[in-house]
Amino acid sequence: MKKRLVLFFALLLTLVTGFTAMTTTANAATDNSLTKIEKKGTLVMGTSPDYPPYEFQATVHGKSQVVGMDVAVGKKIAKDLGVKLVVKSMSFDSLLVALQTGKVDMVISGMNPTPARRKNVDFSHTYYQGGYSIVINKSDKGIYKDKDSFVGKTIGAQTGSTMYNESKKQTSGTTVKGMTSVSDLILALQSHKIQGVAMEKPSAQAYVANNKELAAIPSNFNLSASDTSASVAFAKGSTALVNKANKSVDQIKRENLVNKQYLPAAGKYLKTNTVNTSMFHYWKAFLTGIEYTLIITVCSVFFGFILGVLLSLARMAKGGVFKTALRWLATAYVEFIRGTPMMVQVMFVYFGLGLIVNLPALTSGIIAISLNSGAYVAEYIRGGINSVDNGRTEAARSLGMSSGTTMRYVILPQALKNIWPSLGNEFITLIKDSSIVSIIGVSELIFQSNIVRSDTYRGVAPIAVIMVLYFILTFTASRILNYFERRMQHD
Ligand code: ARG
Repeated sequence: MKKRLVLFFALLLTLVTGFTAMTTTANAATDNSLTKIEKKGTLVMGTSPDYPPYEFQATVHGKSQVVGMDVAVGKKIAKDLGVKLVVKSMSFDSLLVALQTGKVDMVISGMNPTPARRKNVDFSHTYYQGGYSIVINKSDKGIYKDKDSFVGKTIGAQTGSTMYNESKKQTSGTTVKGMTSVSDLILALQSHKIQGVAMEKPSAQAYVANNKELAAIPSNFNLSASDTSASVAFAKGSTALVNKANKSVDQIKRENLVNKQYLPAAGKYLKTNTVNTSMFHYWKAFLTGIEYTLIITVCSVFFGFILGVLLSLARMAKGGVFKTALRWLATAYVEFIRGTPMMVQVMFVYFGLGLIVNLPALTSGIIAISLNSGAYVAEYIRGGINSVDNGRTEAARSLGMSSGTTMRYVILPQALKNIWPSLGNEFITLIKDSSIVSIIGVSELIFQSNIVRSDTYRGVAPIAVIMVLYFILTFTASRILNYFERRMQHD
């Protein structure tokens, strides 16, 4: 037992170190950054669209899109390169990871080129100067003047942002609460969970302009130049690409394009943004969400089932060295998968395996959930098979059937009847748990609801809608499964 444990951990260690080594060598490759983009014909920009006027979600010609001055900057860079811009939305704290693992070619997200970030990525020249403000409830005006007035209170800031770090460093007696999205922070502010939200001044102004109940106050943070300027981030070592982008950025600065064109254009979207905030208006977004949720669930249940059958057979293999090894491996797999959170597995497949093969988010999500589900299904099947009376195996074998034939034609059909209810549960669980893949940007229900939330600035309504939708999905599924279960009992 001890030996096995040592072996197991040795295996684990090799895996982990192998991956770390790969991440570091991937960056040291020669600089083909520019030619790579030119060959590909697209420039993928990662951004966190919760930050008007930098980037935000707006309905353009009936379609929800990411707009804002950063998108205009991205378009300019892409155009000067002679390629097409593709915008990929994700949470702010995933952006630099996505850049380092090649999921995106650049990050434009109102990002400050701080020395700490410079250690891991390269930055272009700056295209804009911001400065920090704090958004508060208008009713609290007069109570809070700047960052120092929040003693005994809570300031919110986006996780991974400079505001989060500075709020922690430069306030005392104040709780700093981090959340992944600025829109959620604003909701927390409005429901008085927190008393202020630190963000860039232009964003503060945009939120205030959009919402009569909010006000902005100066932050009075002590900031260095790199803390207040915005730059485009590129993967470390992509000097050729950075140099090329700098030409575009320099022109933007020289001709004052941000103030003259990009910001006014963004302002227009901000105004049209709140015209129709009825949830019915967004039925298409929710429908897409349902579609993806179902695709992920059905595919994962299918592949998970196949994997589960294989794993359970491997776990029951007896005899010989090969079979023992197989059994041991399958057991280790099941234990490992069940012992780690699905969320971590999803991120590992997307970002980690992404270093070897660059899988799209949807595929990564399906793979991760199938791998996860397989481990659970294996256990259900094993239980189901074990519950089939041993006498039936003996009867089949004495009729001259091989052990494989016995398994396939005698045991499995009977076992399936026992397993069915658990499989049904697994299906229903996956409808709900597939929501985890929203973190890697798959357009399932949660992801869509987040888009609707940032598009409408309404926090609760979209959540209520998807709650009902999830229930309709799981309830219908369980009725259908029950029907088949009853039919099986009749046989
Ligand atoms: N400027 C801050 C930073 O670099 C926050 C930027 C937040 N951007 C966003 N799109 N939410 O950390």
